[in-house]
Amino acid sequence: RQPLDELIASLTVDVPDHPEPGVLFRDLTPVFADGPAFRRLVAGLAAPENGDPRAAALAGGDDAGADHAGPPFDVVVGVEARGFLLAAAVALSAGVGVVLVRKAGKLPRERIAADYVLEYGTATLELHSDSIRPGQRVLVVDDVLATGGTLAAAVALVEQLGGVVTAVSVVVELAALGGRQRVAPHTVHALWTT
Ligand code: PRP
Ligand code: HPA
Repeated sequence: RQPLDELIASLTVDVPDHPEPGVLFRDLTPVFADGPAFRRLVAGLAAPENGDPRAAALAGGDDAGADHAGPPFDVVVGVEARGFLLAAAVALSAGVGVVLVRKAGKLPRERIAADYVLEYGTATLELHSDSIRPGQRVLVVDDVLATGGTLAAAVALVEQLGGVVTAVSVVVELAALGGRQRVAPHTVHALWTT
């Protein structure tokens, strides 16, 4: 069977100069649209405790996140918008709930906010104040690690509420943009690094 990173790479469509000149946009929507690939993505994102998530996939168990002890996280946090569809699938596969980190102005109740700088533009992320309980173990999921601003802000929000970030999982890491350093000391588990 094709290694997961090669599968993701083969289905990703590169779009030059989107959304602005000089940016090579990696479009993952064809990966999400492929049933077997999406299933393997979700299993890989859910199993970062196995070190390189590809190890679990290659060992034969794409469903290897759900061992008998249960997942090593109590809740999955997803980042709007593409992180939502991945986080929901990971949470369902692991049997835990999903919590939303949203762009500013979307969450209706008491919330905390973090500003961040994107590869293209700036923005604010928010989290409902009661959505994470102190000590809860949190898996943070998104599709792309670029500059790391988004995930660093999401992690900061979770930690401000007392959540314990046990892992950060992404589908693709754009290594040249140095996002891994922004999210440190948390380790980012990427299914494909390019
Ligand atoms: C993209 C992507 C990540 C983030 C990565 O989201 O889905 O969340 O940018 O960039 P960074 O590492 O440089 O912060 P975007 O803000 O475009 O939102 P979308 O999912 O709503 O399209
Ligand atoms: N692809 C998808 N999402 C992104 C990218 C990219 O290249 N960079 C920042 N967010």
